[in-house]
Amino acid sequence: MNAPQLIDQFGRQIDYVRLSVTDRCDLRCTYCIPEGFNDFEEPAHWLDFDEIERLIGAFARLGVRRVRLTGGEPLLRRNIVELSARLAALPGVDDLSLSTNGTQLEKHAAALKAAGVTRLNVSLDSLRQARVERINGRDVLARVMAGLDAARDVGFTPIKLNMVALAGINDDEIDQMVAFCMARGFVLRLIETMPMGATGRNAEYLDLQPVKERLRREFGLLDTTFPGAGPARYLGSADGRFNVGFITPISQHFCQTCNRVRVSVDGTAYMCLGQDEHFAFRPMLRDGCSDAELDAAILRAIDLKPERHEFREAPQKVMRFMSMTGG
Ligand code: GTP
Ligand code: 5AD
Ligand code: SF4
Repeated sequence: MNAPQLIDQFGRQIDYVRLSVTDRCDLRCTYCIPEGFNDFEEPAHWLDFDEIERLIGAFARLGVRRVRLTGGEPLLRRNIVELSARLAALPGVDDLSLSTNGTQLEKHAAALKAAGVTRLNVSLDSLRQARVERINGRDVLARVMAGLDAARDVGFTPIKLNMVALAGINDDEIDQMVAFCMARGFVLRLIETMPMGATGRNAEYLDLQPVKERLRREFGLLDTTFPGAGPARYLGSADGRFNVGFITPISQHFCQTCNRVRVSVDGTAYMCLGQDEHFAFRPMLRDGCSDAELDAAILRAIDLKPERHEFREAPQKVMRFMSMTGG
């Protein structure tokens, strides 16, 4: 297919859309949703499945090959399996993945696999019940474990486990998490908190560079990479059976290779997690725009993509928090 390509002003090719299908969540992770927050998007503003299919179809026509469903918690969106199947079937979409907190995964894993979801990332910040309750707002450890087992049993591979590393809160568990993922065949990813709105602020920030060097030594790991590695930088075991990725937006950012944009539940495309440039697609979709107008709008939106985030230099800048933009 000789599809046109989405190249931004800094020469980066955009081939990946992260689509948030809801801004709601059944958890309240401290780094993600501010305490007491209740100002969720009203249902009338959510793109419906036809609108989503049309918008993602247009991105795919322009060269997007990978789509990730995010949230909030994507498995809370009613009929998410049907939406997954519709997106997986779009011409040009080769890879449909999903990031979930795992609480509803046990009941959905088989259907998601059958619908064409290729890869799953699951958040898990601790292996201790009391800590999960403290960090994530509810005691859901057993349900997430059941979800992980179900996902593995229906054949999802790889399964990536996302652990947000929080200084003084769960950083003493990193080695146990490595051992857990090694034993179960999961890819571990350690993530630095980003300041977003009132969340992810400095007190909890843990620089992952020293952690990376320590794990390299203690577990005998080597630098490695693979196609589609995304923003994470990886260490792997010599036999290739275990990988741990480090997502380090603060200590070593990865903006020069950024290949993605985000679409939030109301149809606004955000060009960068840490900047405000955005383009609202819902009005034009609801005004009956033509395919050519939609394609032209996507090209204009990509032109807005900024060079990099400024989480370090201007941590007060981003007032949207993660569940609004979509992780
Ligand atoms: P893969 O396709 O599996 O590599 O996915 P991913 O790592 O991009 O997806 P996932 O949803 O698991 O992302 C994990 C976390 O990485 C996100 O929740 C963010 O914290 C962070 N992240 C992902 N993309 C970006 C990005 O473009 N910029 C920044 N600053 N952080 C990102
Ligand atoms: N900083 C870093 N990651 C965050 N997430 C949510 N909020 C933040 C933040 N402030 C990420 C976590 C979680 C995913 C859904 O979103 O990685 O696993
Ligand atoms: Fe929900 Fe994920 Fe945000 Fe936690 S990080 S509150 S699980 S959207």
